[in-house]
Amino acid sequence: MSETADRGHWGSRLGFLLACAGSAVGLGNIWKFPYIAGENGGGAFVLIYLVCIFFVGIPIMICEFAIGRSTHSSPVKAFGELSGGSKGWIGAGILSVAAAFVLLSFYSVVAGWAMHYVYLSVTGFGGATGAEAIGGIFGEVFSSTKGNLFWHFAFIAMTTGIVLGGVQAGIERASRILMPTLFIMLFILLAKAVTMPGFGKAVTFVFYPDLSKLSSAGILEALGHSFFTLSLGMGSMMTYGSYLKDDFDIVRSSFVISVLDTAVALLACLIMYPIIFSFGMDPQAGPGLVFKSMPIVFAQMPFGMPLATLFFVLLTFAALSSAISLLEPVTAYMIDNRGWSRVKATLIPAAAIFLFGVPSALSGDILSGYHLVGEKTFFDTMDFLVSNIMMPLAGLFIAVFVGYRMDIEIVKKEFASGKPLNKLFSVWFFMVKYVCPVAVTAVFIHVITK
Ligand code: TRP
Repeated sequence: MSETADRGHWGSRLGFLLACAGSAVGLGNIWKFPYIAGENGGGAFVLIYLVCIFFVGIPIMICEFAIGRSTHSSPVKAFGELSGGSKGWIGAGILSVAAAFVLLSFYSVVAGWAMHYVYLSVTGFGGATGAEAIGGIFGEVFSSTKGNLFWHFAFIAMTTGIVLGGVQAGIERASRILMPTLFIMLFILLAKAVTMPGFGKAVTFVFYPDLSKLSSAGILEALGHSFFTLSLGMGSMMTYGSYLKDDFDIVRSSFVISVLDTAVALLACLIMYPIIFSFGMDPQAGPGLVFKSMPIVFAQMPFGMPLATLFFVLLTFAALSSAISLLEPVTAYMIDNRGWSRVKATLIPAAAIFLFGVPSALSGDILSGYHLVGEKTFFDTMDFLVSNIMMPLAGLFIAVFVGYRMDIEIVKKEFASGKPLNKLFSVWFFMVKYVCPVAVTAVFIHVITK
């Protein structure tokens, strides 16, 4: 077991679960899920998404924990150790850490918008009234060079501050504060949504599966999103798993984390759709749902501004606990592979991530005409690269590694730790060997040939 002085471990099972739930619950749940579910017709998409979480997401999460925990190392070292130093597999580890690096660089820009909106709702949207004026604010936020740079910096600085504290005093402690607060805020907003006239319609929209609305593109989008929302394929869960003690039950933990994550995604829909429906708007508004449609309706609601503030603080908190799980794999890599101290291993990568994110922060304004690939801005290119190429590829490698390469005795031992659910082993292993690789390859082929 390779433990350096700066390598930490979780203080408790609850702390670990909250940190993983914090990683999973993020912009993906509150910003992305409601709008992609809206675009794909609601219930049927939700159903397929649940199937993907269950049959692909959870099995791969167990793989990540098994790889991380069995080596107590960050992804690059873990793949190296378990493969007997194979360069190809070390490459798979590097791919995940690189994906975390790139994702954080622009995730932080979107999180910066959420922070910017906290500021805007506290100040009453600068006195703007009327749907058009308020909806138009997003255009300004999106294309504000100074604003984007400032909030991108502020968000990376907060993330860095937490990761500097290390596993227990930083990540675990922050998760213990952020996650319960997040749930309280969700329930306050839900209590409001339940009283809205559109609530019934929202429940039907989310839970009634109209299968005729489902397209094959929708199915593959659900699968891709199930990866993203569970924080798979970028070393987050692997690194968090590496701080686990050997007797923790990773199978049950994966279920708990995935249920919490799914619950938040569904709650986000049950909060936003009733509000959207009650004001006669449409959940198919795309990425602008959170940043355009929600402020418009908040401005028309009684106590709208405090509610808007609460909503954007919620979004910021969700993003923050995810962002720390993206910085941590990079930091852990520097600690494990380069022998850096935690302070150095946090500050230098964080500064690099900030700088690498600058072109994304400027993609709404001075770089909006600069197209890296096709019609895509720098921001869009990074998003495409991470979500459609690096993440599915790394996910595929993880499943293939555990299914075909890793020593089966280690795999079995990992699966059986804690209170073993040994009966499920063969079902899980079947998923990992056959179902996950096929499913992920299908998504991959779909997105690159689109
Ligand atoms: N799961 C987070 C969200 O839903 C984002 C995230 C954090 C992530 N760490 C990750 C996504 C690792 C993929 C891989 O917003």
